[in-house]
Amino acid sequence: MSAPAAILIADDDEFSARFLKRLLSREGHNVSIVSNADDVLNACAATPPDLVVIDLVAPRGHGFEICRKLKEQPSTRFIPIVIVTSQSDRQHRLAGIDAGADDFVTKPFDAMELDALIKSLVKLKRYTDELESEDAVLLGLGATIEARYPATQGHCERLASYASSLGRSLGLDETDLNALERGGFLHDIGKIAVPDSVLLKDGKLDQDESRVMREHPDVGDALCSGLRSLNNVRPIVRHHHERLDGSGYPDGLRSSAVPLLAQIVGIVDVYDALTSERPYHSARSRNEAVNVLETEAAKGWRDRALVDAFVDVIEPHH
Ligand SMILES: [Fe+2]
Repeated sequence: MSAPAAILIADDDEFSARFLKRLLSREGHNVSIVSNADDVLNACAATPPDLVVIDLVAPRGHGFEICRKLKEQPSTRFIPIVIVTSQSDRQHRLAGIDAGADDFVTKPFDAMELDALIKSLVKLKRYTDELESEDAVLLGLGATIEARYPATQGHCERLASYASSLGRSLGLDETDLNALERGGFLHDIGKIAVPDSVLLKDGKLDQDESRVMREHPDVGDALCSGLRSLNNVRPIVRHHHERLDGSGYPDGLRSSAVPLLAQIVGIVDVYDALTSERPYHSARSRNEAVNVLETEAAKGWRDRALVDAFVDVIEPHH
C-alpha cells in the first residue's frame, strides 16, 4: 500500500473493535474507534477517513442508518463503507446493500481477505479523491477569469451565492443548488479563450470583438465536457446568455427550452454586473438594477416570476 489508510471502526462491542483494530494496525493502517452513531457522523465531518467499517448491526440495527446518512451527505458520500455481518446473515446483507454499503466482511475475520478488500476500496477512494481535486482545479480556473479582469472582483462568488439563494427560495433540491453554486463560479470559464484586448477593452466592442466575446458559452461548455461531475453545470455555462424570446445566444433557445438553472444564473449575472463598478459604467443602485430586470421581463427576455422571486431574495420586504 502506498500510503496507510485512515480507517474508522464503528463498533459498540469494545472487544471486537479492539480485535479488528489490532488486525488492521498490523497492516499499517491508522485506525480509530467510535462506539455510537453520533460519533461516527462527527468524526467523518471533522476528518473524513479513507474507509469506515461499521459493526453496529447486531445490537440495535443503527449501522444501516449511519451508512445511509453518510451516503446521503455530499461531503461523505465517497467514503467507502464496509459492514460487518455474521456468516449467514442474508437479511443484513440485503439491508446493507439498500443502505448503500460498498462491501461486507463476515465474522470471524479472515485477515487476508479483509486486507485485500480494504486495499481495493481505498484504491478506489483515492481515484475519486483525484477526480474531486480535478474539479477543484476547474473551479480555480473560474476564479482565474476574475483575476484577469479585476473590475469584476468578487463577481463569481456573489453570483454563486445569489444563484443558490434564489434556488433555495424556489425549493430546488440539493443537486440543483450545488449546480447553481458551481455554475456561479464557472459560468464565464469560456472567457479564457477571449484575448485581453477584447476582454479588457475600455469601450464598446466592434462586430468582430463582439463575435469573439459571444463565443464564451460555447467554449466554456466544451471545456466542461470532459468532466462527468460537471454534467449538471454545463447547461448553465452554455445557456446563461439565452433569452426567453429566442434573441439570446449561443443557441437562440425559446421559453421553457432555456434550462431553469441557466435562467437563474442569467438573472443574477445581469443584476451583479449592473450593481458593480465596471470600466464602462458606474455601479447602479439596487432599484435601478431591479428596474432593468423588470424591463427585460416585460420585453419577454426573462421569466417574470423568476425576476420577482429574485427581488424577494435580495430585498425580503419588497
Ligand atoms: Fe457570460
